[in-house]
Amino acid sequence: MDYVEQRMAQEAAKPAVAADSSSSLLTPLNLLILGLFLYTAYSFFKPQPPAALPKEEPAVVFTTFTPRTLLPYNGENNAPVYLAVRGRVFDVTRGRNFYGPGGPYANFAGRDASRGLACGSFDEDMLTKDLDGPLDTLSDLGRDELEALQGWEDRFSEKYLVVGKLVPVGEEDK
Ligand code: HEM
Repeated sequence: MDYVEQRMAQEAAKPAVAADSSSSLLTPLNLLILGLFLYTAYSFFKPQPPAALPKEEPAVVFTTFTPRTLLPYNGENNAPVYLAVRGRVFDVTRGRNFYGPGGPYANFAGRDASRGLACGSFDEDMLTKDLDGPLDTLSDLGRDELEALQGWEDRFSEKYLVVGKLVPVGEEDK
């Protein structure tokens, strides 16, 4: 038998060896690679949870208030603090130290603060007495007072959100 015949005989004998060697595929290294492959495939096809939306500030609901419905927003029992200036209702809750119970400007909480701010006064008389009556028109105020009021309004507009408008009782739907 020459060399070529010898090789052919060897080749012919191979399938039995190959069939035999299939069990030798299960080496620890192959199992590791298979494991990694399956894990990668699983991670790729795994259902993803929906992307979380960024947290949004709660939407501001614009509401109509009358002096009476504004009154509960005086910060008591941890309620939000609102006050009105010339018909605009500001949410001044972040200024709770100023307007909340015991604060230096608590008299304005839940009220139309226009006249008090214009006149720089904390007098009871500055606040609308009849909560179901007409709003304070401020028509008797002078230039300096109106200027002072404008100053406060500008400051509030920069610092606080407007959450509604103040109207007299009977004009809620307008
Ligand atoms: C003795 C007189 C007063 C003193 C010493 C005083 C002192 C102060 C101080 C230190 C602040 C804080 C300022 C800041 O950090 O932004 C403030 C804010 C304020 N004051 Fe006075 N104040 C006086 C009189 C008045 C008067 C007469 C009024 C109106 C009637 C008034 C209404 C306010 C208001 C509305 C704020 C703004 C609070 C906010 O930013 O929401 N204050 N005051």
